[in-house]
Amino acid sequence: MCGIIGCVGRPNETLETLIHGLSKLEYRGYDSAGVALAGRDGAVDIEKRAGKLENLRGALENVEIEGTVGIGHTRWSTHGPPTDRNAHPHPDCDGDVAVLHNGIIENFQTIRDELVASSHEFRSDTDTEVVPHLIEEALDDGATPEAAFREAISRIGGSYAIAAVFADTEAVFCARQDSPLVLGLNDDAYYLASDVPAFRDYTDTVVYMEDGEFARLDSNGWAVTDASGEPVEKDPHVVEWDAEETGKSGYDHYMLKEIHEQPRALRECLRGRVDELGDHVELEEFAGLAPPTSVQFVACGTSYHAALYGAQLFREAGVPAQAFLASEYRTSPPPIGSSLVIGVTQSGETADTLSALREASRRGAQTLAVTNVIGSSAARECDHALYIRAGPEIGVAASKTFASQLAALNVLALATTRSAESRKAIGALRDLPGAVQAVLDDSTSESVAGEYIDADAYFFIGRGYQYPTALEGALKMKEITYKHAEGFAAGELKHGPLALVTQRTPVIAIAVGDDEAAKKTVGNIKEVEARNAPVIAVTDGRSGVERYADHTLPVPESHPRTAAVTASVQLQLLAYHSAAQLGRSIDKPRNLAKSVTVE
Ligand code: M6R
Repeated sequence: MCGIIGCVGRPNETLETLIHGLSKLEYRGYDSAGVALAGRDGAVDIEKRAGKLENLRGALENVEIEGTVGIGHTRWSTHGPPTDRNAHPHPDCDGDVAVLHNGIIENFQTIRDELVASSHEFRSDTDTEVVPHLIEEALDDGATPEAAFREAISRIGGSYAIAAVFADTEAVFCARQDSPLVLGLNDDAYYLASDVPAFRDYTDTVVYMEDGEFARLDSNGWAVTDASGEPVEKDPHVVEWDAEETGKSGYDHYMLKEIHEQPRALRECLRGRVDELGDHVELEEFAGLAPPTSVQFVACGTSYHAALYGAQLFREAGVPAQAFLASEYRTSPPPIGSSLVIGVTQSGETADTLSALREASRRGAQTLAVTNVIGSSAARECDHALYIRAGPEIGVAASKTFASQLAALNVLALATTRSAESRKAIGALRDLPGAVQAVLDDSTSESVAGEYIDADAYFFIGRGYQYPTALEGALKMKEITYKHAEGFAAGELKHGPLALVTQRTPVIAIAVGDDEAAKKTVGNIKEVEARNAPVIAVTDGRSGVERYADHTLPVPESHPRTAAVTASVQLQLLAYHSAAQLGRSIDKPRNLAKSVTVE
């Protein structure tokens, strides 16, 4: 959700470091941005602006803002609209403290009412603003900045990654509860951030903070403590990817770069897991894990589509499996029995997914996180973690992480069950990076996108493994083009949605292979064609669907499981080129954020 950066130990470059960090974090939230600098000169300087980081940059050209330590924020609004006054950081009444926050303070209204009654002046609609005023109260009672910060945090409930700076104090204080926070360390400078890319250009050494922990960063070093102030021993980790991986490498958008990175991401995901020559799949990390008797998946958005696909993999291997929207899981929990509960989450920080996993854990289930981010909350809290190894994904619309989720789930299902499909499926997995490369090399999606740029809506249909693919194709299209798009199980069209089909609603049908599912999908395409809707078929040429299609987006012949990946690549490109032709903000679509850390 919101992006946070803080830095200590770059006295002559504090502002520059914060702005650079925010530019790396804009994908987390981008409706306003702000910075606060503090240190020796006895004041806290704050500058903040509604809109993208550019607006803040422009404002900073006309003001003098100084400090040896600082914090910065990009916001994704929860309480109050995206305006200058609601942008973070927020000061106390006297301007001696500045606080920024990611998360939701659930008891803010009660606290705010109390503070207003004792004459505190509030200048924003945010839940966050109670914190600087709570700190101010504690400072007025004689507390040190650190003690005042702790006192304020002890009063709030909900989720937070929160940081503060104080006038006359060359230190940054932060705390975490249910919202990610990571420290970056090098010899003479220290950083804090919601996400590693914020400081990856300066250091590769990180310390992940846990819920309930506090940290103090100053020029002498860093220290993590628990809620009672006791020191906590932390092990620094070295991140494996380099800063270049978070740049655009000459592509117009991160999303396009990440679509093109899929062959490499898939190779990484399969490396050491799928035998190069034989029919063997191995997951070292699960060598001791008993085969699951049943599986429940929990996930949101794109990851939920991967979960639907994963459930089908397990069912095909004879293991009862079902995918649940994580946000619904706690509201209406299914009987859990001895199910293995698998959370699929790229970021590992999605609040809805974490909350579903915690519910499953509370009810005694073994939990497993399928995630991209080492050290993420999901990875740390679950009993087991399977990393998809896609590398950093910056575009808000998931692309390479979806492909890698599908590949990792294949490996997981093959390694933990005895599937009759194993041999063919393993071979197809081995060929998958090359098949995706072939799609990238030959796709005509740009010109097909141009043909339908004025469409009223787009409908995506598929069966079996191609049903989640259709849902994902529609999600990509709607989130980056802002056009109406829906995915349907192909057989469902005639039960209602067919009423929406016209000449102005292209139907994108995924009909790969020549199996029962493909043949039935072709039947559904004929129904659409008979109603004059244009048909775009994603096909490997075996179903004969070309005859009924206005355009085809070809994929190589492969197994239905891996065809879901190659077909998804065509659909990602179709959405990308449609959005590009419409001039949309592709990497940062309106109203969305990369990592959704509120429920
Ligand atoms: O980080 P997660 O995989 O848990 O995120 C879940 C969804 O918010 C995410 O997949 C979202 O739907 C995509 N960014 C859409 O492209």
